[in-house]
Amino acid sequence: MDNTNIFELAKDLLQQVEEFATNNTAELEKFRIAYLGSNGKVKQLFEQFKSVPNERKKEFGQIANQVKQTAEAKIEQIKTQLETATDTPTDIPDLTAPALTQPLGSRHPVSLFLRRAIDVFRGMGFAVVADREIEDDWHNFTALNTPDDHPSRDMQDTFYIQTNPAVLLRTHTSPVQARHMEKNQPPIRIVAPGRVYRNETVSARSHCQFHQIEGLYVGENVSLADLKQTLLVFARQMFSKDVEICLRPSFFPFTEPSLEADVTCFICQAKGCPVCKYSGWVEILGAGMVDPNVLENCGIDSKKYTGFAFGMGIERTTMQLYGIKDIRLLFENDVRFLRQFSGGL
Ligand code: PHE
Repeated sequence: MDNTNIFELAKDLLQQVEEFATNNTAELEKFRIAYLGSNGKVKQLFEQFKSVPNERKKEFGQIANQVKQTAEAKIEQIKTQLETATDTPTDIPDLTAPALTQPLGSRHPVSLFLRRAIDVFRGMGFAVVADREIEDDWHNFTALNTPDDHPSRDMQDTFYIQTNPAVLLRTHTSPVQARHMEKNQPPIRIVAPGRVYRNETVSARSHCQFHQIEGLYVGENVSLADLKQTLLVFARQMFSKDVEICLRPSFFPFTEPSLEADVTCFICQAKGCPVCKYSGWVEILGAGMVDPNVLENCGIDSKKYTGFAFGMGIERTTMQLYGIKDIRLLFENDVRFLRQFSGGL
């Protein structure tokens, strides 16, 4: 190749580099390899250096360097253009478009009832306590003054995990009060919400699992009048401000005297309806004065202290409040059913 050709080739390359344009990364890379690659056109150009006569070497060197620098600068420039191209206005999200909203869930009706009941008892100074669902015989039965031959201990009523020594699924929330008294001295004022289990055939009206909320107040001079007033305040705040309560004598091994409490029907306001079976009253809970044996079993001096306790099943009253006809619906968690309770209680 003669000198003129080498110079022309160099100028040609310079022009090609100057004119190169693309908006495509792959093409840019092709360009880089073709010109600046280890066997690229710039390298080949420098290889011609030795055949350039001495007096023109300087001039040739300048052009060759210019080709190299222009190619490098060109690549840098296109690269930054391509990188910032994603920020062009057309790619900015439409800020006026409606937001993607996450649908709100709803609370389970049993939770709605429990939360509200807890709120009412908290307002009266009761603390919330939780404990285990797998219990021993002592806390579920014996400490609570339940005789060895009591029918509730029966296999037909209680789910035993193990028989000797007995380990079982708690049949009520009362063992929570026994455990709490073992660890604490009066004054004690607690409610214990939670799940309980009974060996029942599942049907529209009964289930082998349900919820209760237990209440316990132990102190000096706690009387039946305190129990009555507590239940009345609870009923009026929970259902409506003009409900009345009716206390009927009953029996539980752990309370003496024992009673069951009714409230005026919250569906018909005591006018008579299928929920209250036209009696005007709906039963809501069992209660009584804590039997002195229970206090002693749990390490509390029954000569100094007295107490009252109550236990309320949640499902039945919740079903009456909402007109739910089948208890199984409460355990199936079908969202079409649950969605209906998004309004709260
Ligand atoms: N534990 C009783 C039940 O499950 C309810 C209750 C609790 C009654 C406390 C009196 C006192 O039926």
